[in-house]
Amino acid sequence: MAHFDENAKPFSAKWLEERLAVSEVMRVLALEYWIPKNINFLWAMGMILAATFGILVVSGIFLLMYYQPDVKTAFDSVNYIIMTEVGYGWLWRHIHGVAASVVFLIIYIHMFTGIYYSSYKRGREMIWLSGMLLFVLFSAEAFSGYMLPWGQMSYWAGMVITNLFGGFTQDFAGGIANFPGFVEWLRGDYVPAQAFLTRFFMLHVFLMPLVIIGAIVFHFASLRIPHVNNQDGDNVDFEESAMLYKNGMKKESQVIPFQPVFLSKDVFVMGVYFILFFYLVFFHFEFAMDPVNFDPADGLKTPAHIYPEWYFLWSYEILRPFPFNFGLVAFGFAQVAFFLLPFLDKSPVVAPASRRGLFNIWFWVMVADMIALTVLGKLPPNDTFTPMGKVAASIFILLFIALPFITKNEKKA
Ligand code: HEM
Repeated sequence: MAHFDENAKPFSAKWLEERLAVSEVMRVLALEYWIPKNINFLWAMGMILAATFGILVVSGIFLLMYYQPDVKTAFDSVNYIIMTEVGYGWLWRHIHGVAASVVFLIIYIHMFTGIYYSSYKRGREMIWLSGMLLFVLFSAEAFSGYMLPWGQMSYWAGMVITNLFGGFTQDFAGGIANFPGFVEWLRGDYVPAQAFLTRFFMLHVFLMPLVIIGAIVFHFASLRIPHVNNQDGDNVDFEESAMLYKNGMKKESQVIPFQPVFLSKDVFVMGVYFILFFYLVFFHFEFAMDPVNFDPADGLKTPAHIYPEWYFLWSYEILRPFPFNFGLVAFGFAQVAFFLLPFLDKSPVVAPASRRGLFNIWFWVMVADMIALTVLGKLPPNDTFTPMGKVAASIFILLFIALPFITKNEKKA
């Protein structure tokens, strides 16, 4: 049975301790959560992502106070009411728009850091898988948010992406589970209309954020036992190192506690990030907004060139240059490939790519190829760019097919 000190002052340290075990929670989650010493600023990206998600939630709540999820008024509620009538409405919109774009840049840096340092192996597979789940959830959150201003790109991107789902069910699942009318079911109408906007609104402001919060908690939980990796791939004995640190042998120990030592480093990197972030918000917000989306949605006027936001361009370019059916298979492959990374990389070596021979070449070719796909995805399809897109997309697919063979016989670094 629990014992409570009847004389403890309400909300005093002792009173809280007896009810919430505050010091124990702090010990487990912060004061004795051990982080390797040898990590660089790239390990701050995770906390920057968490902070940017917080900014998205807060700015989103302010926008939600004036946004109207109605096909007749949505466009004006954003472009007129929020931007011109509501005090500082423009600021919240720019913060939300810039954060939505920058969050993907940080996600990619965070992912590529993980790949470069082999942080998806040696007990860290669940960290990787939960991270990839977050990538998919953020993609769905960004896509559903893009629908809300109900501009030309919202409408037509909505049309194109829901058509893709139609392609999958008719061409591939068709034989097993024929589902005619799937696209209409998804849209709630023959074309994107009120039902479509209402359900994407619900997804964006309620269901997706809820699931994302759960996935972030899961991602953090998956870090707890294997701990974070380090920039040398050292197999740190966390228990032994923690003991050394606690016994005052801080120099000999390979670890530092999360709070306050590591956190102070994280907060410094976050400070630099926020300077850049608010510079973009105040001086270059337009990079996060597509000019075509400043025209209201019109189902009778297809834009000359439909393309997604920059962070989806690489996977769009894997779909686009091929005939539709093959393009869908390639696109599906690209989505699954990154999930499978811990199982495609057959080498037990955990080390920076620079010390992993062929894998180093693989890594940099993959980064260059994804940048090429991103650039090509924005260019109009024609006789020059389409063949180039085909080559870049084929290289991407071949890279992932080759990975198990490249890593199978890797020599220990
Ligand atoms: C979008 C929300 C995300 C948040 C809030 C988040 C947060 C974090 C945090 C705080 C860490 C520990 C510190 C660090 O290494 O930065 C971490 C580690 C990690 N995350 Fe994420 N992450 C997110 C998305 C992702 C994605 C998309 C991936 C890629 C699949 C990923 C893969 C990893 C890996 C592999 C580690 C371990 C790094 C290591 O051990 O060195 N995370 N994450």
